[in-house]
Amino acid sequence: QQIRKGNFDHFMLKEIFEQPESIVNTMRGRVNFENRTVKLGGLSNYISAIRRSRRIVMIACGTSYHSCLATRDLFEELTDIPISVEIASYFLDRRPPLFRDDTCIFVSQSGETADTILALKYCIERGAMCVGVVNAVGSGISRQTLCGVHINAGPEIGVASTKAYTSQYITLVMIALSLSEDRLSKQSRRNEIIDGLGKISAQLQEVLGLNDRIQAVSETLVDKLKMLILGRGYQYATALEGALKIKEISYILAEGILTGELKHGPLALVDADIPIIMIATKDKLFDKIINGIGQVTARSGKPIFIASQNGPTLVEGKKKENGSVETKAELQSAETSYVRFEVPETVDCLQGLLNIVILQIFGYWLAVKKGYNPDHPRNLAKAVTTE
Ligand code: G6P
Repeated sequence: QQIRKGNFDHFMLKEIFEQPESIVNTMRGRVNFENRTVKLGGLSNYISAIRRSRRIVMIACGTSYHSCLATRDLFEELTDIPISVEIASYFLDRRPPLFRDDTCIFVSQSGETADTILALKYCIERGAMCVGVVNAVGSGISRQTLCGVHINAGPEIGVASTKAYTSQYITLVMIALSLSEDRLSKQSRRNEIIDGLGKISAQLQEVLGLNDRIQAVSETLVDKLKMLILGRGYQYATALEGALKIKEISYILAEGILTGELKHGPLALVDADIPIIMIATKDKLFDKIINGIGQVTARSGKPIFIASQNGPTLVEGKKKENGSVETKAELQSAETSYVRFEVPETVDCLQGLLNIVILQIFGYWLAVKKGYNPDHPRNLAKAVTTE
């Protein structure tokens, strides 16, 4: 049943549209929304040992690596344990110091990615506690790790990973919530996140309603050869993952850029012609985001915004910061004349689950409009089992 395309032309679009359901499957039997508790059966005997580790190292490739980046801030905030996030191949190239009191989390959709498996072997040899976050049950990584959590997203056929990303993201959030269950000082933050998880499926469904508009906007961009996706804080991972989606299936040179780094180089690329998508949903960095918008529009850049529904408008954000009249006028025109996709607002650390869907759909339509089959990007494989 799940491996048929049904009414969809491609597996990728089907899998994008499955997400309201697949993320619920990821949380099923694990998150109790009434008692606000999280129970991960596969980790229950190991949670207190992980809490005692001196460092958590998250290791993955591709989209799975981005799910680690998307949740790193939350792990740091809830656990107060130092967190590193590693691309498996680079980790292997360096062969960095690793200790018995490190916990290593291996994130992989297929569970068979060679680089990730070799990194796992390296960590096992050094006596670290190895945890798997895997979709494919019975795969190499789920067998070789000491313990773990299956993301239960169901089979993913499209080479460009979509529903596995959102389920990995939610699984990592659930692990961070489990690790901080004993922390009194984190209870209200944990409750806020669990309440957010309870609403996220319906909100994701709402984002899917933007499909037709995204399709129409993508039509205006098919002839472009390059594209910038800007985000910061929690949305840096969204920018990187969105750029990966767009480049792997539409072959547009899309680059995900940390907005704070704009002035250190990428600003030189900005002009009236280059397509720029700015992730500008409301969070504690909103004032800095507004600054970034000012930097781009001052160079004639014309961003497409991913913004919050019912949030403060981009203009109000600037007004609060310094009341500058000139910039305000500029932003006002930016808001009214530039394309803007509005997504429902959730807790800051979950917002990436909604924002990424816009970019997944964008990537899909760019590929289709350019005549490419998004399910079979050239030169790429679903699982890369060689180094
Ligand atoms: C390949 C796929 C990507 C995937 C990456 C990691 O490059 O094309 O979509 O993100 O491998 O795969 P994994 O199965 O380990 O998550």
